[in-house]
Amino acid sequence: MSDQFSKKDEAWSARFSEPVSDLVKRYTASVFFDYRLAKVDIQGSLAHAEMLAHQKIISQQDYAEIVRGMTQIQADISAGKFEWLLDLEDVHLNIEKRLTELVGDAGKRLHTGRSRNDQVATDIRLYLRSAIDDIHDLLKNLQIALLQLAEQHADTIMPGFTHMQVAQPVTFGHHMLAYVEMFNRDAERMMDCRKRVNRLPLGAAALAGTTFPIDRQRVAKTLGFEDICHNSLDAVSDRDFAIEFCAASALVMTHISRLSEELVIWMSPRVGFIDIADRFCTGSSIMPQKKNPDVPELARGKTGRVNGHLVALLTLMKAQPLAYNKDNQEDKEPLFDTVDTVIDTLRIFADMASGITVKPDAMRAAALQGYATATDLADYLVKKGLPFRDAHEAVAKAVRACEQRSCDLVDLSIAELREFSPLIDDDIFSVLTLEGSVAARNHPGGTAPAQVVEAIKRARSRLK
Ligand code: ARG
Repeated sequence: MSDQFSKKDEAWSARFSEPVSDLVKRYTASVFFDYRLAKVDIQGSLAHAEMLAHQKIISQQDYAEIVRGMTQIQADISAGKFEWLLDLEDVHLNIEKRLTELVGDAGKRLHTGRSRNDQVATDIRLYLRSAIDDIHDLLKNLQIALLQLAEQHADTIMPGFTHMQVAQPVTFGHHMLAYVEMFNRDAERMMDCRKRVNRLPLGAAALAGTTFPIDRQRVAKTLGFEDICHNSLDAVSDRDFAIEFCAASALVMTHISRLSEELVIWMSPRVGFIDIADRFCTGSSIMPQKKNPDVPELARGKTGRVNGHLVALLTLMKAQPLAYNKDNQEDKEPLFDTVDTVIDTLRIFADMASGITVKPDAMRAAALQGYATATDLADYLVKKGLPFRDAHEAVAKAVRACEQRSCDLVDLSIAELREFSPLIDDDIFSVLTLEGSVAARNHPGGTAPAQVVEAIKRARSRLK
C-alpha cells in the first residue's frame, strides 16, 4: 500500500493529530453520490496526465503507467467490481488511491499541478455537457412526436380557451404546435447554456494556478472544451453554469407540467377530449372503474422538485466568498436529480404523446358550446364598415338573445340576426361555422389548417 495514504486512508492525515469521528466522516464524504462522476473523472485525469508528460513534468513512462492503471480501474467500475470506500471521501480520492495501488509512484504523480478543486469543477462540466446533449436529443424526439399528432389533427377543431372559458375555435394541431414552440425554445436554451458549461477549469489548481509549466489549451483541446476558464479563482468557485442548467431544466419541466395539466383535464370523463394509452395510467385499489393519468400527474409533481433544485443551487452559491468552499460539494445531488428527472420525463413524454387518442367529436361538441364564433360575427360587421366597438355591442346582444332561446348564433335566421345589425347578409353563415372560423385565421402563427401544415413543415426543417 502507498505510504502517502496512512492507516486512516486519508490523503492529508499527516497534518492531523486525531481522526475524525465516523459521523463526521459520513457527513463530509460525497463518494456515495459523486461516484457517478467516475467516468469523467478518469477522462479528465488522463487528459491532465497526457499534458504533464507532453510538458515533461512527468515522464512518458509515468504517463503510460497512469493510462494502464486507469484502463483497469474503468473496466472494474464498468463491471461493478470497484470497491468504493467512504474512508476515501470522494470519487477523486478513491480513484487516485486505487491508481497508486495499481501503478505505484506514477499514480502519486498524477495530482501534480492539480487540486481536487479544479478537478471536480472539470468533472461536473464534462458530466453536464453530455447530459445537455442527451436532453437536447430528447427534446427533439418529443417535438417529433408532437408534430406527428399535429399533422394527424391539422384540421381537428377544438375549443380554444381563455380563463378556462370557451373563447374561439382552434385546431388541435395548432394547440400541439404551441408546445412544439415551447420545447424548441427549451432546446435552444440548453444549447446556449452548453457554451458556458464547455470551458476548462483545470489549471486553476486549488485557487491561484500552479507553479508547473502546464499547457491548459492542450488539455482543453483533448477534452473538447471550447475554451479555458480565464480566472483561476472563478474557475474553482462559481457554479453559475450548473444554476443556469437547472433554470433551463425548470422551464422544461414547467412546459411539461402545463401540458400535463391539459392532458389530465382532457382525459377527465367530464371533458373526454383524449385518451391516454393504458401503459401510462394506473387503476385504483378500491374503485374498479378508475383509469388514472398518473404519468402526467407525476410529471406535474416532479416539476416542483426540479424548481426546488434550482433554488437549492442559487442558495448554495449566494453567500460564498471566493474561492472554493466545501459548500460546493452540495451542488451534486440537486444537479444529478435534475438531470435524472428531466431525462426520464422527456423519454416518457415522447412515448406517451404518440399514444394519445384524440376524440374529435367531443372536441367539436365542446367548441359548439359557448358562442365560440362570436368574434367572427363582430369581425364580419367591421369588414362591412361598422366600428369594432359597435360591432362588439351588437354581437353581445345577439349572444344574450341566443342564451335566452338556448340556441347558437348559427341557429338564428337571417331576419333574427338582422335585428342586431342590418349589415348582416346570407354570407354570414359560412363565417359562423367552426370550419369558417378557423380557416379565416390564415396568416403565419394563426390556427387555420393551412397554416398548421406550413408550421409543421417549418418545425420539421428546424429539427433537421
Ligand atoms: N468532493 C469535493 C466536492 O464535491 C471535491 C473537492 C474537494 N476539495 C476540497 N478542498 N475539499 O466539491
